[in-house]
Amino acid sequence: MASLSGKNVLVIGGSSGIGFATAAGALAEGAKVTIASRSEEKLRAAQALLKGAVEARKLDVSDSAAVEAFFDASPTYDHIVVSGAAFKFGTVRDQNIDDAYAAMNVKFWGAYRVARKATVAPGGSFVFVSGFLSRRPKPNMVLVGAINAALETLAQGLALEMAPVRFNVVSPGIIDTPTRAAMPAEARKTLLENVAKALPVRRVGQAEDCADQILLMLRNTFMTGSVVYVDGGGLLI
Ligand SMILES: NC(=O)c1ccc[n+]([C@@H]2O[C@H](COP(=O)([O-])OP(=O)(O)OC[C@H]3O[C@@H](n4cnc5c(N)ncnc54)[C@H](OP(=O)(O)O)[C@@H]3O)[C@@H](O)[C@H]2O)c1
Repeated sequence: MASLSGKNVLVIGGSSGIGFATAAGALAEGAKVTIASRSEEKLRAAQALLKGAVEARKLDVSDSAAVEAFFDASPTYDHIVVSGAAFKFGTVRDQNIDDAYAAMNVKFWGAYRVARKATVAPGGSFVFVSGFLSRRPKPNMVLVGAINAALETLAQGLALEMAPVRFNVVSPGIIDTPTRAAMPAEARKTLLENVAKALPVRRVGQAEDCADQILLMLRNTFMTGSVVYVDGGGLLI
């Protein structure tokens, strides 16, 4: 299996959660890591936690011109991980349609824009982060499931269209990351405890559980078009 040592790895959404754990893991394997996201503040905080050994670059993947300019000013990365997303939940009837478009614009079109513009070095790859709602739709989260399904199919199509560049997807279940930071602490705790009780593995996921799988996909040159569910058995219940 190829090593990540000395490879240029870009993690979009690397300032938090699954992206941050991926950046930390790649760094530990000797990669040269760049993290990118919208907030300078989050990027600086992540850089400090990663001991400043990574480059941090501002990027909003919902902005086509910004994505073009970012990659025009980039070195050739070996691997690109797209883990950035931000959305509000709500029923199809109740959710503001502009919020719905915005969610798709970041998570689906963001990955699409990156894949359309970025080139990776020979032997390189892309990993997108989707979510198990693609296969297990839930009321109130219908749009997110649909976005995740679209992202998984996008990666599989690109694995053919842009071969031999590899495209893979990690599809997380419930992972305890800062993504739920806006929830009241007690509600968040109860949610995570209930999920842990219900899952076959009896715990919620940690960002590192997903990062391990992402790093494997970067290294394993025989993997392309794969969608791996890192969900503690969430698809089974
Ligand atoms: N945590 C879960 O339970 C779970 C479950 C299923 C799927 N997922 C998926 O896993 C991925 C990572 O989630 P996470 O839990 O690690 O979330 P997180 O901790 O909130 O991290 C999200 C990251 O995306 C960045 N980001 C947001 N909007 C962006 C944009 N427009 N352009 C560039 N970067 C952007 C954020 O930084 P800035 O705010 O600085 O931009 C942050 O670094 C997401 O796609 C999420 O949908 C998570």
